[in-house]
Amino acid sequence: MISLSPSLKSRLSTPLKIGSFEVKSRVLQSPLSGVTDLVFRRLVRRYAPDSMMYTEMVNATGLHYVKELPKIMEVDPNERPISIQLFDCRPDFLAEAAVMAVKEGADTVDINMGCPVNKITKNGGGSSLLRQPEVAEAIVRAVVKAVNVPVTVKTRIGWTDKEINILDFAKRMEDAGAQMITVHGRTRSQGYTGPAKWEWIGKVKEILSIPVIANGDMFSVEAAVKCLEQTGADGVMCSRGTLGYPFLVGEIDYFLKTGQEKTPPTPIQRLECAKEHLQALWEYKGDRGIRQARKHMTWYAKGFAGAAELRGHLSVIENLQQGLETIDRAIERLANSTGSQEVEELELVEV
Ligand SMILES: Cc1cc2nc3c(=O)[nH]c(=O)nc-3n(C[C@H](O)[C@H](O)[C@H](O)COP(=O)(O)O)c2cc1C
Repeated sequence: MISLSPSLKSRLSTPLKIGSFEVKSRVLQSPLSGVTDLVFRRLVRRYAPDSMMYTEMVNATGLHYVKELPKIMEVDPNERPISIQLFDCRPDFLAEAAVMAVKEGADTVDINMGCPVNKITKNGGGSSLLRQPEVAEAIVRAVVKAVNVPVTVKTRIGWTDKEINILDFAKRMEDAGAQMITVHGRTRSQGYTGPAKWEWIGKVKEILSIPVIANGDMFSVEAAVKCLEQTGADGVMCSRGTLGYPFLVGEIDYFLKTGQEKTPPTPIQRLECAKEHLQALWEYKGDRGIRQARKHMTWYAKGFAGAAELRGHLSVIENLQQGLETIDRAIERLANSTGSQEVEELELVEV
């Protein structure tokens, strides 16, 4: 059983203040490229209505030249609080993109300074900004000047283990006008491997006045509580733990508010959710949605007898009907099973 200490409960009982904007939850759904579209966010929000969500990262250079809103930047007018995340290395393009983001309904604009992917870093964006703190500062200044909503930054602790510069970097972001910083406790060279070094998040919290959000390895309520206790962070952001499990943000939020653990969904309930996700992706994106749904569907199919075989079938679905029928058959098998079959361990999602 997890326990919520009175001191943690009272520390987190007030709204999260991002500049003048208030959020009634200390648990955030991270931006996840290829995942956190409007459809996914809707599912997460059902269980975590107060939480802040992020769009997938949007390329500011792309916006500058195309001048047209990409689907990944689309926000439902009813979904609040919402942040639109941008990436680039050009302060002027980012400022321009931020104005478009606010027009689309963003409550805050987040700048990606953590993405490790070569395609992004070789153009000077994402985590490569950790190596160009002056450019990162200029970006924050330009975006803060361009919009009247809070500007936030999401970053890592450094480029490599030998270049951990998050303390200096985070201070610079605050001084440049960032109203919140999310720190993923890994270096760029770690990618997504090895444990997140939460101790650095604690050190950042000690020196900043703006809210600090802890990110990295937030796979359960227990992990979130441990991280909040260890780091003193103002909130936690969930990422891979939500893949195929849009319940996680709500579970953590509920625990932090009440000290009670929610009953986790059964495998059948998870598969019902997968069906809904699939149907909604098809309605929103058509055939492209079905192709994108394959990975989501395999993420849902975890932790029960027959899951590996089901993943095999779901990874190649060609259309909505086939996907729904495949999941229905799995649900039926689960409903009729005696529970004696071997259940695979729930493991970390590989991406
Ligand atoms: C599939 C995938 C897509 C991601 N896309 C983004 C993104 O668009 N913007 C961003 O800031 N971080 C992105 N990230 C990083 C996560 O937001 C998060 O920082 C990272 O996964 C660490 O948290 P975790 O260990 O709990 O997964 C992505 C991560 C994954 C696995």
